[in-house]
Order: sequence, then structure tokens, then C-alpha cells
Amino acid sequence: MKVIVTGAQGQLGKDLCNILDKQFKIYGLGRLELDVTVQEQCEKVISLIKPDVIIHSAAFTDVDRAEVEETKAYLVNAYGSRNIAVAAEKIGAKVCYISTDYVFDGNSTKPYREFDNTNPICIYGKSKRAGELFIQTFSSKYFIVRTSWVYGMNGNNFVKSILKQALSKQHLKVVNDQTGSPTYTIDLSKFIAELILSEKYGIYHVSNSGACSWFDFAQVILQELGIDVGIDPCTSKEFTREAPRPTFSVLEPLAIRANGFKELRHWRVALSEFIREFKDSNHEKS
Ligand SMILES: NC(=O)c1ccc[n+]([C@@H]2O[C@H](COP(=O)([O-])OP(=O)(O)OC[C@H]3O[C@@H](n4cnc5c(N)ncnc54)[C@H](OP(=O)(O)O)[C@@H]3O)[C@@H](O)[C@H]2O)c1
Repeated sequence: MKVIVTGAQGQLGKDLCNILDKQFKIYGLGRLELDVTVQEQCEKVISLIKPDVIIHSAAFTDVDRAEVEETKAYLVNAYGSRNIAVAAEKIGAKVCYISTDYVFDGNSTKPYREFDNTNPICIYGKSKRAGELFIQTFSSKYFIVRTSWVYGMNGNNFVKSILKQALSKQHLKVVNDQTGSPTYTIDLSKFIAELILSEKYGIYHVSNSGACSWFDFAQVILQELGIDVGIDPCTSKEFTREAPRPTFSVLEPLAIRANGFKELRHWRVALSEFIREFKDSNHEKS
């Protein structure tokens, strides 16, 4: 089975390629090989490779910058996804679109199910939701995988940012009024490897199980790293940013359960494994 991964140089894209490489013939395409905003290039590359599946991970992911670069965010996240869906449909390929918990407004107090109404509150969320709609409109064989709070070995993420701050500051302040579920790229990639083999199309909520605030998450990261530094909770208001974030964006994996897949392990277990691997890889480098 031939599989294209878009955004292959990104945090998730790299791990998707590493994990899927064991099972599939992988074409990991970065922006240089496949700029998803250029429709002619999408048509050409996809019709040439003729993949069975396209995992569409490329995105404009800077949530705050999306507020000021609205057109660019829609161009990549919405129209880029349309371009992928249209080209995939022409050759009969399945599409697996990586989406986000930010399609929800965060006003719920219980985990969001796949069939709950979306109502994104920031441009990033709106543009990713527009991408979902294009995928649903133009692809007849799609998986939409909504995930949240992603971290892994590659790219910048919250885990690395906490480590960096802990090494340079005496005291950390982390927001305690946003709740979600951290997700390890490796667990997500393994799930996607199983999903794309199936014909169980539709929307999936895929995060590590359990939930926490960014503050809880940071505390556990520091514990796992064995770094003793002061850490205090703060509110989102104290931490002004361009884009509003949903207060509560825990995703319930109803589709995973209903379709007979296995739920992802608890975020603490996944984090613990990640930190072990992170330490090992830094040890090897030094
Ligand atoms: N990170 C999270 O917490 C999170 C949460 C929920 C969902 N997601 C979704 O998960 C997916 C992967 O995110 P990530 O964390 O791996 O983000 P990432 O590291 O920023 O990766 C995104 C990749 O897309 C590439 N890209 C941007 N514009 C492109 C274009 N026009 N054509 C081709 N490639 C382009 C980027 O390349 P450049 O570096 O050259 O711009 C980057 O390599 C995204 O769809 C994102 O929306 C992420």
C-alpha cells in the first residue's frame, strides 16, 4: 500500500513517516515536494505517485499568528485541504485529515463527541474546520482525525518549552484554566496506521486518554524530568495571547469505541515513555 504524508517535515509528519514506514511504502512530502496550496502541484504529484492513502498533516499551525495572517491560514488549512481532497478523489485514494480540538468552543463541561456541534473561536480553529468541510465535500473515502495538545521528539511543543523554561528560570507560571488531553505523536501515528487499513470512514477523536490542565501537565513533565523548580498556576487572562483558546477541549473517543478500535493509553503513561526516550536521545547526543 502506497501512502503519502503531507507536512512530512512537521512534528507529527516525521513520526508518522517513521511509524508507517514499517508497514507501508511511504512518500513523506514536505512543503518543497508538495505545497498543498498549489492545486496544480497537488494534482501532478498525487496522480504521479497514485497512493492508496494520503495522510494530510500539513497545516498552518501557529495559532496566534493565524489571527493576523488570516488569509494564509485559510489558504493552507482550508484550500490546501480542498486541493488534497480533489486530487485524491480523482485517483480513488483514501484521505486521512488531521484536525484539532480547536474546532470546539470549549464551553462544554463534558468531553466532546464526534457528532457534537463545532463552533471554533479562533482563526486557526475556523480554518481547520473549513478544511474538514472541504474534505467531507470532495472526498468519498475520508477519515477526519481530531487530536489535541500534540508533542513528540520533533519540532517545538509544550513539553520541550517547559524543559527550556525550567533550565533558564527560577520559577514558572502556567495556565490552569484550560483543560485538554495531551497526545504523544507515536501513539497517534500507531492508531492512524491501523485506521487507514480499514474502511471505517468518518470523524474520530484521538487523544491519549485522561485530561488535565496545562498546569497539571507541566507539573508532571517536571516530575518526570526530575527537575526541582517552583511552579505556580495562573489564569489565561494573565497570559495574554492573540488567539483565544477553548477552556475545555477534552475529546471523547466515541468513534474509536463504536468501531471496535482500542482507546489510546493514559497521557501520563505516554508522557513517561516519551520523557525516557527524550532523555536517552539527549544522552546519546552528548
Ligand atoms: N500541535 C498540536 O498540538 C496539534 C493539535 C491538534 C491538531 N494538530 C494538527 O496536527 C497536524 C500536524 O501538526 P504538527 O504539530 O506536526 O505541526 P507542525 O510541526 O507545524 O507541522 C506542520 C507542517 O506543515 C507544513 N506546511 C505548512 N504549510 C504548508 C504548505 N502550504 N504545504 C505543505 N506543507 C506545509 C509545515 O512546514 P513549514 O514548517 O515549512 O511551515 C510543517 O512542516 C496539523 O494538521 C495540525 O493542525 C496539531
